[in-house]
Amino acid sequence: MFSYLSHLECTQCGKTCPCDRLIKVSPCCGKVLFARYDLAKMRKEVDRDALASRPPNMWRYSELLPVNDPANVITLGEGGTPLLVAKRLGESLGMGHLFIKEEGLNPTGTFKARGIAAAVSKAVELGAKGFTMPSAGNAAGAAATYCARAGTELKVFMPKDAPDANKKECVLSGSELNLVDGLINDAGRQAVAVAEEQDLFDLSTLKEPYRAEGKKTMGLEIAQQLGWKMPDAIIYPTGGGTGIIGMHKGFKELLELGWVEGKPPKFFAVQASGCQPVVKAFDEGKESSELWENATTLADGLRVPHPFADYLILQSLRETGGTALAVEDDEMVDGMHELASKEGVIACPEGAATLVGLKRLIKEGQIEPGMSVILLNTGSGYKYLHLIKG
Ligand SMILES: Cc1ncc(COP(=O)(O)O)c(C=O)c1O
Ligand SMILES: [Zn+2]
Repeated sequence: MFSYLSHLECTQCGKTCPCDRLIKVSPCCGKVLFARYDLAKMRKEVDRDALASRPPNMWRYSELLPVNDPANVITLGEGGTPLLVAKRLGESLGMGHLFIKEEGLNPTGTFKARGIAAAVSKAVELGAKGFTMPSAGNAAGAAATYCARAGTELKVFMPKDAPDANKKECVLSGSELNLVDGLINDAGRQAVAVAEEQDLFDLSTLKEPYRAEGKKTMGLEIAQQLGWKMPDAIIYPTGGGTGIIGMHKGFKELLELGWVEGKPPKFFAVQASGCQPVVKAFDEGKESSELWENATTLADGLRVPHPFADYLILQSLRETGGTALAVEDDEMVDGMHELASKEGVIACPEGAATLVGLKRLIKEGQIEPGMSVILLNTGSGYKYLHLIKG
């Protein structure tokens, strides 16, 4: 058996719906739909140790991914990224178990490849002929390459000041690039309107069920790389929140399968001081966020002023005992220097933000020296070399 996908479930009210057709948000509440799997059956039939001999990419977790027929998988070899022991950095911070999950090694240089591979593969399996995609930058670059590989049409909607590398990924891969005078939420409105007009499938994050499934594999991989153990904490640069939401879901599935023991890691969301809707909502004890006006940060991936799945991000932080914090742009650039000079990791500013966050969390006593902690570097610094002087 390839996938144990069984149905979809509304994250607001729990109502279920079938997974045999293209669908976006829940018909009942207009909220995020989660993919659900027959975990009881899988627990009886699948041995976790059998996974080790499969090719080291994210499709080694196919039973927990939505694609039914292996022939429908559209892949560029995403996933299977290293979990690096950060020995020198850890020593300088008094941390004995510090790791960097190096997502910069994915196709198109970011973790976005995982979510897009899952979503495009599943949508094509269900009959999608073409796509629209609003993106802060990296997700569009990933979508452009996967749609090229699938041979399907893609119309991208991206803020006009998005990184050059992302625009060029779209141009190179033959997708239609529409530059929007505004931010990701403005791009999102245009993408949805064009999708409706032209019978295309819109890939906005968490407004379809499967990008989160691809991102979930970061968590599955971390657990496997730690010898089927969950870390104590994951520090994650949070924009739309798909990574936190996906990984948290993945850890819960592993627990239900009996593949790991204990409790999911504490999730710490790092945002930019110029765009921190999740931090504000967390601090105010709210269940959802408000639009962050005039969002600015050099970390384009964190420039998400009003995440659609804010309520799920906040639930993950609170349920696991984590928190949310904001860091400055210049601190991120300093973090890029430190990650590269101490560990040889050329990180994106978003990834570097997690190091800044770690230092703050250590100072505040929220992270203690004995904890196993993962810094999630979501992308390669090669797309951001313009930020480095010299
Ligand atoms: C490099 C990078 N890091 C982090 C993020 C935020 O990711 P998420 O939507 O999972 O919160 C993005 C999203 O654009 C990104 O491009
Ligand atoms: Zn509902």
